[in-house]
Amino acid sequence: MRHPVVMGNWKLNGSKEMVSNLLKGLDAELKGVEGVDVAVAPPAMYLDLAEQLIGKGESKIILGAQNVDVNASGAFTGDISPEMLKDFGASHIIIGHSERREYHSESDEFVAKKFAFLKEHGLTPVLCIGESEAQNEAGETVAVCARQIDAVINTQGVEALDGAIIAYEPIWAIGTGKAATADDAQRIHAAIRAHIAEKSEEVAKKVVIQYGGSVKPENAEAYFAQPDIDGALVGGAALNAESFAAIAKAAAKAKK
Ligand code: 13P
Repeated sequence: MRHPVVMGNWKLNGSKEMVSNLLKGLDAELKGVEGVDVAVAPPAMYLDLAEQLIGKGESKIILGAQNVDVNASGAFTGDISPEMLKDFGASHIIIGHSERREYHSESDEFVAKKFAFLKEHGLTPVLCIGESEAQNEAGETVAVCARQIDAVINTQGVEALDGAIIAYEPIWAIGTGKAATADDAQRIHAAIRAHIAEKSEEVAKKVVIQYGGSVKPENAEAYFAQPDIDGALVGGAALNAESFAAIAKAAAKAKK
């Protein structure tokens, strides 16, 4: 049985006050909640504060980040290395988010490099994949997801996915309120798992595949009731302690 993982991607949102309120609120909401891994990815600027607050809290919130570079140190202005993330206790690192693929022209190959670099440093990659609206309408969803995963499999072997997390986020569902139906998401998750199973049934069985894209407390339960949906990567609803905790609790309940 796969252990569900619910992660909040805070994107470019936050202030010291907001980080403090949100993490304190989450700590209170998540007290006593078992059976789900809950992670948050604040902007890198706030990792220090988040690490301190999580350390003081009672619930076991996992610290994550939204990006990493492919270099360890040196003349790479503005970038952040895996060791720096580790220094602040961040373990679950989002890579290949569609916003980075689009606004920073990150290719499948570049994202795969980040994947390898995180693994090399003992960090958990949260590999985002997903199709655009046009690709969806053209019936290319599974092919796009397979290509994005193959960039990792073909360079590092299928075993590289062992212990990693895949987040299926259809681009048209991100921040739009137009979420995929639970049935549609399940169909794609099953296809992604089947694609991995072509290389290794063992790895496919174990890999956590999250759904992301307009996940809210109201629709979370329906996703988690699906056999191949192992958690969620949450944007907007993760900025509120009550709604994010409600999603985490729904995962814990459904995957008992
Ligand atoms: P929303 O939950 O705001 O749609 O964002 C999803 C997302 O992009 C998480 O990485």
